[in-house]
Amino acid sequence: MIQEIFGNRVRDLRNSKMYSQIEFSQLSGIDRTQISKIEKGKLNVTLETIEKISGALNIEIKNLMDLTNVKKMRPFVKWAGGKTQILNKICELMPKEYENYFEPFVGGGALFLYLAPEKAYINDSNSELVCVYNCFKDSNMYIKLLNKLEEHEENHNEEYYYKIRALDRADDFKRLSMYERAARMIYLNKACYNGLYRVNSNGYFNVPSARKSKVNTYDRDNMLLLRNYFSNRDINVSNTDFEEAVKPAKEGDFVYFDPPYDTLDDKDTFTSYSKDSFGKETQARLARVYKELSNRGVKVMLSNHNTKYINKLYAGFNITIIKAKRMINSKAEGRGEVEEVIITNY
Ligand SMILES: C[S@@+](CC[C@H](N)C(=O)[O-])C[C@H]1O[C@@H](n2cnc3c(N)ncnc32)[C@H](O)[C@@H]1O
Repeated sequence: MIQEIFGNRVRDLRNSKMYSQIEFSQLSGIDRTQISKIEKGKLNVTLETIEKISGALNIEIKNLMDLTNVKKMRPFVKWAGGKTQILNKICELMPKEYENYFEPFVGGGALFLYLAPEKAYINDSNSELVCVYNCFKDSNMYIKLLNKLEEHEENHNEEYYYKIRALDRADDFKRLSMYERAARMIYLNKACYNGLYRVNSNGYFNVPSARKSKVNTYDRDNMLLLRNYFSNRDINVSNTDFEEAVKPAKEGDFVYFDPPYDTLDDKDTFTSYSKDSFGKETQARLARVYKELSNRGVKVMLSNHNTKYINKLYAGFNITIIKAKRMINSKAEGRGEVEEVIITNY
């Protein structure tokens, strides 16, 4: 049992750093077949191996060995700007203590699901995504969601993908049941090209199929963890603009803003999550909201690209520069490393 738990821990940490087993083997000097055995819980590791693992993951041994609450929830969709790969860095910059957790641009929820707070306010302007979070709060909807996902998996082919994709063109789309919209969102995310969520100027989802012969829409264990979490904690889910979503935040609460990023001046960066684009003016409005919250005694953290504009908007706050791998970009040469900032008021 303990070997299995430790193996899951190593696999999760390795995935969060986006290392393949081969890359991890080269970094740690541990044989790849041994890594595979460790991750499957089939090897009793020595102290020397633990030291090698902690070095390759750049994590202290005591953190590596923190095996409490290891079965973590994970995002149920791939999301542009998802934070899984830089979770460790974000966690290092989190406040040590806070009351309620707010994430007004929750997206796939990498940080939120990792932290699993007792009381949280999560929000996203993407109504299809929010349908999924709401399904986790309701046992009936949750079961229907899983059944519908299985139906999508069974029926999946090219023609079916485009039939499901076209549902949002119908006038009565918003009258579909919550679980149907949620299942459509997950299915399209798993079956589409690159896991993108992109809509055209009319607000219709327009990502082509990835032409997969088989699509796995969900991981049963993860879904169980998600359902269990949402039914036992106080999680408020909303579908509104970020400014509205953080209104209830009060002194001692923590808000993490992970907005669509400012465009890198000379690069073509993905920002269109919905039909309303998130331009410079919206970045400036967000900075005003950030300052208002800060003045109210709320602890605020924000991620963005390291651009001159963002540095100017948040001058006076604590700005930490980090390097992140750019994950979603249709052009292969656009997948290198980019500089991001994490801005805190504490
Ligand atoms: C960078 S992503 C968040 C990624 C997320 N942290 C994760 O780990 O997956 C930004 C999110 O903001 C949402 N969004 C865009 N404009 C918004 C607005 N005005 N108010 C609230 N959410 C918005 C998008 O739908 C998208 O999910």
